[in-house]
Amino acid sequence: MMAADLIVGIQWGDEGKGKIVDLLAQEYNIVCRYQGGHNAGHTIVVGGKKIALHLIPSGILNPKAVNIIGNGVVVSPEALIEEMKQFDDLDGRLLISDKAHLIFSYHAQIDQAKERMRGKKAIGTTGRGIGPAYADKVSRQGHRVGELKDTKKLQAKIEEYFAINEPYFKALGVEKPDSEQLRKELEFYRDALMPYVIDATNYLWDILELGEHKILLEGAQGTMLDIDHGTYPYVTSSNTIAAGACTGLGLSPKDIGKVIGIAKAYCTRVGNGPFPTEEFGLEGDKLRQQGHEFGTTTGRPRRCGWFDAVAAKYASRINGCDEMAIMKLDVLDGFEKIKVASAYEYEGDRIDYVPSDLENVTPIYIEFDGWESVKGVRKWDDLPVEAKQYIEALEELTQTKIAIISTSPDREDTIVKN
Ligand code: IMP
Repeated sequence: MMAADLIVGIQWGDEGKGKIVDLLAQEYNIVCRYQGGHNAGHTIVVGGKKIALHLIPSGILNPKAVNIIGNGVVVSPEALIEEMKQFDDLDGRLLISDKAHLIFSYHAQIDQAKERMRGKKAIGTTGRGIGPAYADKVSRQGHRVGELKDTKKLQAKIEEYFAINEPYFKALGVEKPDSEQLRKELEFYRDALMPYVIDATNYLWDILELGEHKILLEGAQGTMLDIDHGTYPYVTSSNTIAAGACTGLGLSPKDIGKVIGIAKAYCTRVGNGPFPTEEFGLEGDKLRQQGHEFGTTTGRPRRCGWFDAVAAKYASRINGCDEMAIMKLDVLDGFEKIKVASAYEYEGDRIDYVPSDLENVTPIYIEFDGWESVKGVRKWDDLPVEAKQYIEALEELTQTKIAIISTSPDREDTIVKN
């Protein structure tokens, strides 16, 4: 039987997975999202046209690929319908699991109200309702995409949900949707989405059994934002790691083939929470400017710092990475010295693992000589010796083979290393 290959972010998201998925999606004819929602996002330029993807898998840019939104994804029908407008040929190319949970506007209202109440301790969420939608799912009061089939029944369920939770919603200042408006909204969602809704798990099992198509699983966010294994509570609300693809699509661990971890040559994080290698001074600013590190979904400036090899080694192990892709190596162009965290100081000891209270570590750095420019380099042999040394050191520190190196946003500016 065939196996499905997987792409996963091994930092705090925004590793540049979009470019790799876009590159690989040409070879795969089934591309699946398994977790997260429209908190994720990347913009791809195709033939001069900007396309923003939040929920639809990147395989949509390959006219031959079928794209699946798995049950582990939380789907905002409003956001998805808006995103679908960018394409006029989605028939048979987009499929949505009937078991995926729905995000409604009240989820976003809850998300934002709670963030305001947390004040200084805010998580820095994208405010899209991701956490509240997953919370409803886990507390067994969520609503699933398949329920759009019978909007009357779904509306009654949503109204019952509001009745049960009334005191809570009142305290948060979240308004109950108007009945007539809700009816219209649900009918609109039903008409726009139901033609794409299927039992995605059975579909994938059939594809795997048939063995004729290559499947790519596209992770969103990154390992350090995983609800169980990330920097809790400063995380997103899903299992972003490779294992999330099993629960988020209905695959068994044996269905997973090659796992490719994606990391930037340095590190960024949006939102709050521990980030040991963060640079607050000029070097952080330089990374932000050179790397254009501003959020695609919210426009927020990203926090920037050095590559954290301790966290990357942890992420590689937890995902079972067969190899890694190092993105945006050109952003380090012109730095005299480049630092990498090779260990942490923690409670007076030197450690090389990620403790559950990452806020209490101090990174121990190794320093590398910088280089002038790697921008647009397409062959390993054409890299400056300092860049080669840097990549080889990352391989050794993370105990993971680096197979792909990206040297510009351009699809062609990619080194595939043997
Ligand atoms: P949420 O996913 O909106 O609940 O946000 C929780 C945390 O995950 C916040 O720190 C967000 O900034 C972060 N986050 C969510 N999605 C992304 C992403 O696609 N890239 C980077 N960070 C993200």
